[in-house]
Amino acid sequence: MLNTFRLIYKSIPFGYDQNILNGILSDAINYNKKNNITGALVCRDDIYLQLLEGPEQAVNYTYQKILDDDRHLEVELLIKEYCNKRIFPKWNMKDDPAKTWFWNKEEVRSGVFKTLNKSKIIAVFEKIAKETSK
Ligand SMILES: Cc1cc2nc3c(=O)[nH]c(=O)nc-3n(C[C@H](O)[C@H](O)[C@H](O)COP(=O)(O)O)c2cc1C
Repeated sequence: MLNTFRLIYKSIPFGYDQNILNGILSDAINYNKKNNITGALVCRDDIYLQLLEGPEQAVNYTYQKILDDDRHLEVELLIKEYCNKRIFPKWNMKDDPAKTWFWNKEEVRSGVFKTLNKSKIIAVFEKIAKETSK
């Protein structure tokens, strides 16, 4: 049954450092707990890639706040859809810092995302979830 909503976007960090990242993550975890949202944030100095999953209204509301946040730029929606289960049911926001196993900086700069289809983007998060439960 398609009873969970998920949204994935990417953006470019603005003023990326550990303090800013900690601030974003503590905001995310606190609010998401209240809003029944889970997900993950892939974060490194050239890209944020975030999955939000939960009730549609809560996810959309949170995304509207994220769109207005000046800690990142060029927020671009990649996926918005119903799905049958959460990828990160136990994580109000799992952070996956500075991994370069998926794309290198040059690929991100030259727009690797334009070449990725939905299932490849979702596979990124499924891979992170698998590593997380080890
Ligand atoms: C990259 C990034 C990811 C964020 N992720 C979330 C999130 O998952 N949940 C959330 O509530 N806020 C998240 N935020 C923070 C929101 O933009 C916002 O600051 C926060 O929800 C508090 O909003 P408010 O004080 O206007 O209620 C994120 C911000 C950034 C820059």
